[in-house]
Amino acid sequence: MSNRFRNQPPLLYGMVGGGSTSQIGDSHRVALRRDSYYELVAGAFDIDKERGRQYGESLGLDTARVYADYQQMAQTESAREDGIHVVGIMTPNNTHYTIAKTFLEAGIHVILEKPITTTTDDALSLIRLAQEKDLLCASMYCYSGYPMVRQARAMVAAGELGEITVVQTEFAHGNCATAVEQHSEGVAWRNDPKTSGGTFVLGDVGTHALHLATFITGQQVREVAADRQSFVRGRVLEDNAHVFLHFEKGAAGYLWASGVAVGHRHGLAIRIYGTQAGIEWHQEQPNQLRYTKLGQASRNLELDSPELHPSAKRLLRVGAGHPEGYFEAFSNIYSDFAEVLLAKLSRTMPDPLSLDFPTLEDGAHGVKFLEACVESADNNGRWTNSELRDSGKSF
Ligand SMILES: NC(=O)c1ccc[n+]([C@@H]2O[C@H](COP(=O)([O-])OP(=O)(O)OC[C@H]3O[C@@H](n4cnc5c(N)ncnc54)[C@H](O)[C@@H]3O)[C@@H](O)[C@H]2O)c1
Repeated sequence: MSNRFRNQPPLLYGMVGGGSTSQIGDSHRVALRRDSYYELVAGAFDIDKERGRQYGESLGLDTARVYADYQQMAQTESAREDGIHVVGIMTPNNTHYTIAKTFLEAGIHVILEKPITTTTDDALSLIRLAQEKDLLCASMYCYSGYPMVRQARAMVAAGELGEITVVQTEFAHGNCATAVEQHSEGVAWRNDPKTSGGTFVLGDVGTHALHLATFITGQQVREVAADRQSFVRGRVLEDNAHVFLHFEKGAAGYLWASGVAVGHRHGLAIRIYGTQAGIEWHQEQPNQLRYTKLGQASRNLELDSPELHPSAKRLLRVGAGHPEGYFEAFSNIYSDFAEVLLAKLSRTMPDPLSLDFPTLEDGAHGVKFLEACVESADNNGRWTNSELRDSGKSF
């Protein structure tokens, strides 16, 4: 990992959500520390003020910077000379828009969890606001931080697969095959349309699969035909969905999102086929990329394979053979974001390879995809446009 800026003072970082009971907070905290680019100095960690206060104190933060709510945090931090540069937002989906807007209006750069909003209009409005304020934002599609995912993207870009014809992707786990929402706060809000948005597994895991597909192929999805259902009794939103995809340059695709795939542990995988070669990646064996050239035997590319592209090589942290995985992928995105932000603040050019972190635009594509899937499924799987446009401009 390049560390050109290691001698600069760290970016001051604040966190909204991610408290002691949260699922994803710890992944962000570990990620931001790994390359010493950030220092966690402030937070409004929890909807439960007392629990949030206790948690902030347990992290050793200055108690004056452990806030009861995010509004107070944005106001106070933006007024301080040593206020935070960046906020990470990791709260339930329905709160992302208002919280992100508050920090952007306060002049603070944003790292936002996915799905970034519950409507495309809100996502586009955040993009416009970030542009107006000249602020940098990321959306946390963390799986694009794996070296072998960057390798896959570089191989497609270099034409090593030929023309892309077929894309199959899935994020199908079995963790919600029973009514776990009855005893888990985190699954309960995901199954309530008021807090989750209009989808459960499509937004929760399907958007990761979509982002992988578009990130690796460099193509957006033009239209979708979706079918979704809820298998667990009493569940309001879908716990399973199949979506056919038409990509902008002609590839055909298929995405499966599920929480009832009993026997799948995490269940994120992608297969991409081109006229010259095919590749396959499974997140549970993240350091191998199966590669088959037309007419040749299949083999696994490994982290020390000579064919590795620079964009993948730069992410290696330990020697090949040592397991690297989820936490490192999260860190890779945090560090890419930091390199670009530090370059922006010091008016220098960032390493072009650090520009691959997922952006707010990527997040907005995900939200548009969800709206198109819901519309399509409500109309018996009718093909439905999923292109992201803002006043005629497409992304
Ligand atoms: N990128 C990934 O791989 C990944 C993985 C899991 C979750 N997520 C996303 O992260 C977000 C949070 O998910 P989670 O699983 O951690 O949820 P969770 O329910 O486990 O935790 C949510 C946290 O936010 C806090 N919170 C809620 N409202 C708040 C508010 N207004 N102000 C401050 N804190 C508030 C809660 O107290 C809790 O600490 C979701 O958008 C989810 O989709 C992403």
